[in-house]
Amino acid sequence: MSKKPLILGIESSCDETAASLITENDKGIPIVLSNIVSSQVEIHKEFGGVVPELAARSHIEKIDLIVKKAISDSGKKIEDIDAVASTAGPGLIVCLSVGLSFGKAFAKSINKPFIAVNHLEGHALSPRLNSKIEFPYLLLLISGGHSQYLNVQQLGKYKRLGTTIDDALGEAFDKTAKLLGIEFPGGPQIEILAKKGNPNAYDLPKPIINKGGCNLSFAGLKTAVLKISKTIKTDKEKFDLAASFQKTIEEILYKKTKIAFTEFEKQNNSKKKTFVVAGGVAANKKIRSILDKLCEESNYQSIFPPIKFCGDNAAMIAMVGLEKFKLKQFSHLDHPAKPRWSLDEDASFLKGAGVQL
Ligand code: KG4
Ligand code: ZN
Repeated sequence: MSKKPLILGIESSCDETAASLITENDKGIPIVLSNIVSSQVEIHKEFGGVVPELAARSHIEKIDLIVKKAISDSGKKIEDIDAVASTAGPGLIVCLSVGLSFGKAFAKSINKPFIAVNHLEGHALSPRLNSKIEFPYLLLLISGGHSQYLNVQQLGKYKRLGTTIDDALGEAFDKTAKLLGIEFPGGPQIEILAKKGNPNAYDLPKPIINKGGCNLSFAGLKTAVLKISKTIKTDKEKFDLAASFQKTIEEILYKKTKIAFTEFEKQNNSKKKTFVVAGGVAANKKIRSILDKLCEESNYQSIFPPIKFCGDNAAMIAMVGLEKFKLKQFSHLDHPAKPRWSLDEDASFLKGAGVQL
């Protein structure tokens, strides 16, 4: 039996320093041997958001330890590693540079290939880390930095169906939380407070709900929350605003996902229809249940990967590395860090909609 590839993955595109070792079984199913994620939430809390300079400094301080721990937890030795894969973009350039340089140097030092990975490709393939999901599938990626619908057709072939034209959904949750006096990252707290409030107390806008296909927009919603937050005096009003915000997001995602289903079906004629939700905001139970309901109504299989693979992690980067390793798709050591890096070569059509690529 031939030796299965062993890949070290490294992730440092934003505020998580992460490393993972993965291999695969005889059926080609990934085996995650270790998955270490060190979050910087405590560092950025007092600033109400990620401070790039501080994030980069923390990556530099921790990356060595995190990689060492990933190797020791995996039960493997450095000499067993067949390739090193690092996130090269999109993300904060000062942060990307840390994991990218470390990965290149590590690969060079063990004389093994280096593989530059698109972070979004990691998210797109992350549901395949723990279940065998057939291509194609529709992915909704909702995190602190990204909000997009992707038609995942096969490894290396992605079609972006829609994306946010301003804020990412996690950002909208965090900004709303900040206005309500909740510490960064406040997304999870909004969900908790919302349970105590009346979701119909405030009529909030749903930007571009009837136009722009399945593109998303949250900036106008944030402005409305800002105005109302200035009038809030009691806890009850605070809970009501959180509940109204949560409900508005559910309605936006329900409607936009329905449009994304139609777009997805136009592009694929496979009988099996699968919808996957990934990214940190996928932890929101109410969002899960509304999208689950939509899937039932529309005859889609819904998949929500485990939270540890939803948020930023290096196992998803190692997995893309593993797939590319098998195809001998190695990168040069001068591969640049790319703060913007679209997964979809044809996405330039979105420029007209004011979308950042
Ligand atoms: O993917 P992720 O872990 O990291 C990056 O985006 O880098 O996503 C983090 C985002 C934050 O904005 C956080 O507030 C949001 O996901 N989030 C949530 C919930 N859990 C995490 N938003 C709403 N409800 C939640 N339960
Ligand atoms: Zn991410």
